[in-house]
Amino acid sequence: MDSFKYQNNELYCEDVKIKDLAEKYGTPLYVYSKNTIIDKFKATDEAFSSVDHTICYAMKANSNMEFLKLIASIGGGGDVVSGGELYLALKAGIPANKIVYASVGKTDDEMKFAIESGILAFNVESEPELDVLNEVAQKMGKKAPLAIRINPDIDVHGHPYISTGKSINKFGIDINTAYEVFLRAKEMDGIEIVGVHSHIGSQILNLDYFNASAKKLFDFVTKLREAGIEIQHVDIGGGLGVHYPDVIEEYAEERKEVPAPAELAARVIEVLKPLNCEIIFEPGRSIVGEAGALITQTNYIKYSRDTKFIVVDGGMNDLIRPSLYEAYHQIVPLTYTDGKLEKADVVGPICETGDFLAKGRNLPQVKRGDYLAVMTAGAYGYSLASNYNTRPRPAEIWVDGDKVEVIREREKVEDWI
Ligand SMILES: Cc1ncc(COP(=O)(O)O)c(C=O)c1O
Repeated sequence: MDSFKYQNNELYCEDVKIKDLAEKYGTPLYVYSKNTIIDKFKATDEAFSSVDHTICYAMKANSNMEFLKLIASIGGGGDVVSGGELYLALKAGIPANKIVYASVGKTDDEMKFAIESGILAFNVESEPELDVLNEVAQKMGKKAPLAIRINPDIDVHGHPYISTGKSINKFGIDINTAYEVFLRAKEMDGIEIVGVHSHIGSQILNLDYFNASAKKLFDFVTKLREAGIEIQHVDIGGGLGVHYPDVIEEYAEERKEVPAPAELAARVIEVLKPLNCEIIFEPGRSIVGEAGALITQTNYIKYSRDTKFIVVDGGMNDLIRPSLYEAYHQIVPLTYTDGKLEKADVVGPICETGDFLAKGRNLPQVKRGDYLAVMTAGAYGYSLASNYNTRPRPAEIWVDGDKVEVIREREKVEDWI
């Protein structure tokens, strides 16, 4: 869905002119298209419809309560990585038996909470964690549902900080030793084996990696079954990439083909279907990434030797992806101008050299007061925002056709006294 587009040279989110939102609610401001989230989720769900499946939204991408309630209302489950995420998922109405829980550092209290809640599976990431889970469950007189996260040693060639499936990464149990760990788990009184899990990374655009991971999972489950270990589900993790440069063709400096969820599902289902297992998919970015933009206002234009800086009111505390991952987000003016493009760094007000939203980017002439939209900021935008430099986090707003709703108020410094 084309949720962000120009009409009469003004950028709209669905049927709402974003400039009106910026003027009314202030900037920096996160604006989301509710219908994009619905469309992306439904397309993903539909993609797996030929097999028993659950789409567990990876809520680390954006855990706004309204997002979670929406996902719950359209049949989604949740992929959580902390007790806090589990708490919000349950409050939002996501059924516990559709929640999977990964994290290399689950605490005893988090385990207890998840066992009490009746989650679908713990995606256990190490043998010591398995021992603690067994102990915690036994003390409660219960069995914890287990899906070991296997690390398949697949290099997805993305940014090193978002690659998770290589043996040098901290995640999961090496595929060569995981089999023995399953055999041990089978004998544990506090454990019920339910599945196998793997997540190889994020922003993956080459489906061969998903296919390779599915093949490793297939072989692994087959081996487990030969040892008498029944596996009810295979969780393939998340990681499908999204489109970053999107809105104005001529400003786009990167253009990559983004596979549709149906293409991904086909490559996975062709391998896993013979197992007759439920397939779990944990998308985060591909559900909400393209649904959001960070709106920011230009404060100053500054030149330093040959570099032009557009100093805006949104910084790395609001959107850290460019600083942390050197991530590309297309930046476009809310009011379209087709004049000469000029290279500029778009920087925030934070006292860090690493505080930038874009570097050396071709942009139209911008003056003080002009608004810019940082596109594809729906995933890992607000959820990674901080209060660094004692800056209140932005408001979040979503748009449904011509309806506008504030789904998180802007923070205020006064609240911290
Ligand atoms: C275990 C797990 N599942 C799912 C995801 C979601 O990934 P993405 O947002 O790329 O779909 C992540 C992201 O880091 C993850 O660690």
